[in-house]
Amino acid sequence: MCGIVGCIVAKGNVAPIIFECLKRLEYRGYDSAGIATIHEGRILVRKDAGKLSEIDAKLDLKGLPGSIGIGHTRWATHGAPSQANAHPHLDGSGTIAVVHNGIIENFMELKRELLELGHTFRSKTDTEVVAHLIQEMMKKGMDILTATAETLRKVKGSYSLAIIHTGTPDRVILARNESPLIIGIGEGFMFAASDAAAFLPYTDKAVYLENGEVAVLKIDEYKIFKIDDLRSVNRSHVVLKWTVEEAQKAGFPHYTLKEIYEQAQTVREALRLQLTYVDLVVELLDRGRDVFLLGAGTSYHACLAGSYIFSKLARLSAYPVIASEFVENYGSSIGVDTVILAVSQSGETIDVLNALEYARLRAATILGLTNVVGSTLTRISRAYVLQNSGPEIGVAATKTFTSQLTALMFLALRLARKRGKVSQAEMDALQEDLSNLPSLVNKVVKDSEPIVKEIAKQLSNAELLLFLGRGISYATALEGRLKVMELSYIPCIAYPAGESKHGPISIIEEGQPVFFVAPRDETRRYIIGNVMEMKARGARAIITCERDDDELQGLADISIPMPPTNPLLSPILYTIPYQLLAYYLALERGNDPDKPRNLAKSVTVL
Ligand code: F6R
Repeated sequence: MCGIVGCIVAKGNVAPIIFECLKRLEYRGYDSAGIATIHEGRILVRKDAGKLSEIDAKLDLKGLPGSIGIGHTRWATHGAPSQANAHPHLDGSGTIAVVHNGIIENFMELKRELLELGHTFRSKTDTEVVAHLIQEMMKKGMDILTATAETLRKVKGSYSLAIIHTGTPDRVILARNESPLIIGIGEGFMFAASDAAAFLPYTDKAVYLENGEVAVLKIDEYKIFKIDDLRSVNRSHVVLKWTVEEAQKAGFPHYTLKEIYEQAQTVREALRLQLTYVDLVVELLDRGRDVFLLGAGTSYHACLAGSYIFSKLARLSAYPVIASEFVENYGSSIGVDTVILAVSQSGETIDVLNALEYARLRAATILGLTNVVGSTLTRISRAYVLQNSGPEIGVAATKTFTSQLTALMFLALRLARKRGKVSQAEMDALQEDLSNLPSLVNKVVKDSEPIVKEIAKQLSNAELLLFLGRGISYATALEGRLKVMELSYIPCIAYPAGESKHGPISIIEEGQPVFFVAPRDETRRYIIGNVMEMKARGARAIITCERDDDELQGLADISIPMPPTNPLLSPILYTIPYQLLAYYLALERGNDPDKPRNLAKSVTVL
């Protein structure tokens, strides 16, 4: 996710202020940080891997001279946390410095072109390419604003950027596409930051940049332009009523709700995987004789859904396995032909690492899907893919789950293509479904919230909740159950709907709420039977199904309508109402949804 800051002060040095701003953005990323200022016609940079205060203790970030500067606190996506990969990044001449939040999708291509022109790079980041491209444009005689706009017309992906140049030491150039960027107008101070929390102690006057805009910030004015044609945009400021904490939560009452809402963007970022690494992982998966998808908790549910996706799309049998059960269950058959794709948001879950260590000693190939570069999982994996969700602060996994599913879908699709298992037409249709996914996610969050809020009111005193799904929706039922249970503390059970007749049906009595996950797929006609069986015994059926599925809507005591979607993508969309239900049940029952009792974000005990 990363946090960026740009600042100009009328008097004194800017670095101590940028440092304070960055501290308030550390929740957006904290694996490296840095500040650059302009002083006596030169750019000065101090940056390193580590936490902001540690870097300051070592390098005296606050001691940088100069009245204009930019700063960054990082959550690594391209290149591990290191001094070289920390922002700000410089161009080849050392006169342009850039900080960036987002992902430049086509940076490899751009880097290749720049290498041919003789540029050399110091980092593995996508950001450095932006600094060098601006330099290239300026060589052609463009000013810094025009050069930035011209550069961004070549760039694909998401960004918020703050840029300084020694030739114009009175201004910070800003730009935004998909990643947030807000200008703050103070008396004797001008700011730009990823969120207003950074500058709220100095000013409550804010101007929001929109996608596709570039801006010039000076001590006494700001000017906004369209990147496309540099036509100017008039936008006046708004007065924020937020506290710093509210701003960090983007106005949401809890991080969990903010993170549920963020999913349209995080799913989009999860589709921006680096193809080089994706293809390496795919190549190694393809070579395995026994392939396992291994994870714990929510990440295990992603593995379970992933196993259906790999099987259906790429005809790969990938066995989902709970990390803590792996050694006992499969340990004796692990060998050089075994490939394990470990899915772990933190990359530090001890059950996962233990299983991998065991497998590694037996020469198995270890692959990873994680959200944290530099985590143990990234260090022990032969190849890994980053899901790009940014830090997740709510203890319960929400946005990181839907990103894991998106990344697994992406991997399965690449493998299917490599194996020649999907036709051109299927491939095109799936690509289109994937590109529509972020807007569908947005729609589901918004449309289901009021319905689910009402359900939470009705069920706040429930003693037991049951979740049923078939096929890939069994994974959704398990994840729905886990989310609701861990945030509401209501005992919950999840079963494959087909198994419900083999035991769970005995607990059904008049009014027992049963959630059915019922997308329109080949299991639908069977789940209709399961709904009828449960209803005949008095169950209250709460069915998540397509909005025009009249038959299931007719059977439902309460229905949660969903947009039509490819069944393989249904866990991404159908999990969202259960995340919201978990959140609102927690509120109804007086629980803190961000910090459920007895749970830790990263479980490092066996
Ligand atoms: C549930 C949850 C946990 C984690 C589990 C694995 O909401 O967050 O079940 O999914 O502890 O964590 P990672 O993915 O970091 O290995």
